[in-house]
Amino acid sequence: MAIREIRTRGDEILSKKCKEVKNFDNKLHILLDDMYDTLKLNNGVGLAAPQVGILKRAAIIDIGDGLIELINPEILEQSGSQIASEGCLSVPNVWGEVERPNKVTVKAQDRNGRWFKITGEELLARAMCHEIEHLEGKLFLERVIRFVDQD
Ligand code: CO
Repeated sequence: MAIREIRTRGDEILSKKCKEVKNFDNKLHILLDDMYDTLKLNNGVGLAAPQVGILKRAAIIDIGDGLIELINPEILEQSGSQIASEGCLSVPNVWGEVERPNKVTVKAQDRNGRWFKITGEELLARAMCHEIEHLEGKLFLERVIRFVDQD
């Protein structure tokens, strides 16, 4: 268990495309475990590997219903739309309204390389879209419709 440093806006690693995970080995498991510790410490909903400086297609999400690990994720289907306030651990203290699909089905591998499908609505759909975009080197900032002041 270890906490990793979160890269923040301006760090060029956040704008790079991540590489496919090919080895589902102990090194990957340690990365995922460290990402989980880092996510919890920072009270986040999701974290992608490039946010801790690793250019691999791996992300984790926990919206309060348990941990979801997405390795090599791909969006298979999306429908509807929702607009809500969104933030990112790599962009501290900035919140903005972002439009996302309301429902998303994602195909991904688990930490042992097994493929699975997951469908999420509302916050889970939003989180999956947000994290998958990190793997493409994109931050939510470029999608913000309106920045939201914090109270
Ligand atoms: Co983020």
